[in-house]
Amino acid sequence: MLEILSQHMRQLEAFRADVALGLSQTRKRLPSRWLYDNRGCEIFEEITRLEEYYPTRTETAILRENAREIADFCGERAVLLEYGAGAGIKTEILIDALDSPKLYVPIDIAGEFLDETVVRMRRRFPDLQTLPVVADFTAEFEIPRGVPGGRRSAFFPGSTMGNLDAHETKGFLRQVRRHVGSRGAAIIGVDLKKDLSTLLPAYDDREGVTAAFNLNLLARINRELGGDFSHECFAHEARWSEAESAVEMHLVSLCEQVVTVDGQRFAFQTGETIHTESSRKYDVRGFMDVVEDGRWSVSAIWSDPDRRFAIFGLDATW
Ligand SMILES: C[S@@+](CC[C@H](N)C(=O)[O-])C[C@H]1O[C@@H](n2cnc3c(N)ncnc32)[C@H](O)[C@@H]1O
Repeated sequence: MLEILSQHMRQLEAFRADVALGLSQTRKRLPSRWLYDNRGCEIFEEITRLEEYYPTRTETAILRENAREIADFCGERAVLLEYGAGAGIKTEILIDALDSPKLYVPIDIAGEFLDETVVRMRRRFPDLQTLPVVADFTAEFEIPRGVPGGRRSAFFPGSTMGNLDAHETKGFLRQVRRHVGSRGAAIIGVDLKKDLSTLLPAYDDREGVTAAFNLNLLARINRELGGDFSHECFAHEARWSEAESAVEMHLVSLCEQVVTVDGQRFAFQTGETIHTESSRKYDVRGFMDVVEDGRWSVSAIWSDPDRRFAIFGLDATW
């Protein structure tokens, strides 16, 4: 109980520091991890069911189609570490296909939402030991020692890797290699480059669910840090950055205004934005270069017929 409380306090302090720093910059920005409080996770699940949001549908189909092969890649008695587990819906497909899996370690920054996922997974897979970890995977953390099993595989679906910048990606690949060890593997879902007429609606749907997801960050700042953001004074925007090969989410100030957070005042011009998320899109060669640079070798690539999305099977090299 005390550990949970101190973890909660540490997370709150990290959030406070990121908001103070991010809103003080000339180009205001906040790390995308803070989009995921409990409400943010719930809205994200709604996004995954939208017609415009092709990534979840496509990745799920690839997983179903190739479940046997991906499970063989993990090997028998697998230990599965899942980064950014969320609701773990796709994970059920993989665990179902695994041969006598020994341990499942779902890792997520959103502790309350992770608790619900763990309850569901334990009910669904009673013979599989599940050891959740609440952590920010862009920072260093340790994996708890669990029952001995076969090879360790890191599972990172949802194209969440695309939310990391080049520096974070490098650090993430290094940390995962350390977590899985010398015989370890990684299975990473990657959204591929495609036309903007498909990409942009996926981050700006007609029903406004993605807008609600983005604006929820302001509600979180108000609730947790005593901010006075007015929901009506900001609008959601999705835009393409050619330089970053990413769809960016912004919150646009609709007027000149001053917002107070934690006693600190932040001025906004009309049209000024807070950059809240980047979702990088890769081509296959580009992603291979990134992981090979991080001392992983590409052993398999599973994709859909339209090459919208790819799941990479990686082996750690030493
Ligand atoms: C795009 S969602 C993907 C959810 C799920 N894996 C899927 O494929 O649908 C990203 C998930 O990663 C978590 N997350 C985002 N940034 C994180 C970070 N820095 N550390 C740990 N978890 C993070 C979020 O809470 C959320 O559950």
